[in-house]
Amino acid sequence: MMKASISMDSLALQDVTHQLVQHFIAELQDMLDDLGAGTLSPQQSNVLDKIVVFFDQEMKDHHREEEGHVFPLLLSQGDPALSEKVRVLQADHDELRIGWRKLKSCIQQAQTASPVDAQALHTSFDQYSTCFARHLALEESIQFSPETQLLFKRWDT
Ligand SMILES: [Fe+2]
Ligand SMILES: [Fe+2]
Repeated sequence: MMKASISMDSLALQDVTHQLVQHFIAELQDMLDDLGAGTLSPQQSNVLDKIVVFFDQEMKDHHREEEGHVFPLLLSQGDPALSEKVRVLQADHDELRIGWRKLKSCIQQAQTASPVDAQALHTSFDQYSTCFARHLALEESIQFSPETQLLFKRWDT
């Protein structure tokens, strides 16, 4: 079952998703001061809506794909050092879910309430983006290593 669910195409898709994460986090950072000050332009609001949908939906699918297929395949190799790294990735996912809920609630507060709690908004953004940067660096160091690419190719053929 696992074999049918993982492919080089899905890995390429994951790569694109990681790039989108970095892009949207940078976009969010750029508008954070305006959001905190309640001075977002209509265009910024539009972009913000897309960012929220991305982290709400695409990230959920992305993490489900990794937890359902990629992590089990890596764990099945029985390599203790690799397994430890996968456990860190899984813990990151849990932290990211909590972090996104917190950040999203700060974004919604900033969109609807006055005065805006800009401090909470910045703090939750910093925590979320720091965790994501750390997570992507570790994940990509594993997923795109020559050994792992070979492993995925074997499953793909
Ligand atoms: Fe990922
Ligand atoms: Fe991940």
